Amino acid sequence: MSEHLLSEDRDGVRVLTLNRPEKKNAINNPMWVGLREAFRAAADDDTVRCVLLVGAGEHFCSGVDLASFGDMAPGEEHPFESAARAVVEFDKPLVAAVQGVAVGGGATVLFHSDIVYAGESLRLRLPFASLGLVPEWGSSYMLQANIGAQRAAELFYTAQWVEADKALHYGIVAAVVPDSDLFELALAKAREIAQWPVNSLREIKRSLRLHHLPAIDTAIKAEQAGMMRQAGSPENIEAVTAFMERRAPDFSRC
Ligand code: COA
Repeated sequence: MSEHLLSEDRDGVRVLTLNRPEKKNAINNPMWVGLREAFRAAADDDTVRCVLLVGAGEHFCSGVDLASFGDMAPGEEHPFESAARAVVEFDKPLVAAVQGVAVGGGATVLFHSDIVYAGESLRLRLPFASLGLVPEWGSSYMLQANIGAQRAAELFYTAQWVEADKALHYGIVAAVVPDSDLFELALAKAREIAQWPVNSLREIKRSLRLHHLPAIDTAIKAEQAGMMRQAGSPENIEAVTAFMERRAPDFSRC
């Protein structure tokens, strides 16, 4: 593990911690590679019966690191795509504990988590329209499957913030607790899961995900094609430049 992605085993639970609090746990390219490898390793290790994903500090994750997003050779697959596949294919229970901001990739990973526990400070956002981009991680399918087409469309089109109580009402999270109780609650639930035989947990996960996987695959391919068209577009460059310059984007000339 790297300094930005911590791993600790507790009674069959592998706790993976996004650890870049000074950037609200924005995930840079080495972290995406680390996440991919961590999920593959957790899948292969039968002493691990459940993964608990958390963010260090007061925030879960501010998504893709916008400062390093374009640091790829032309045509090279971005590691966030292979990390997505590793999470989608992860064949054991995945629990997430989220508080503070959960934006972009920091939100879409939750749609593939089996159970999400939220702190009261949770604020979730799907900012793709505001970045001149498209949804990723199969979220264009998974969010609809989880909360219904109209609610999903509203969140994607408006890029509005979703507070903890609304996330609970929509079924994006299973429970909301005070931030101070969040980690202990999520760890206790993950331990409760991890007491059972790993093969049974695998079979349950397979049954729960079976019908979603082909649709997720279709969605990821469509999203990647859209991302190829939109990444580096004038509106995307304007949005990222505006974020780095701490100003509102001006799409009027795009
Ligand atoms: N990529 C790179 N850096 C990020 C980041 C991201 N996704 N999100 C936050 N940061 C950095 C900020 O640049 C800032 O760095 P600095 O202190 O060196 O200037 C630091 O993290 C703290 O963020 P800041 O913007 O000052 O906090 P805030 O409370 O005002 O706002 C957010 C928090 C999450 C609302 C805001 O940072 C944001 O909108 N980030 C972008 C989220 C996003 O669009 N992610 C991409 C999804 S595809």
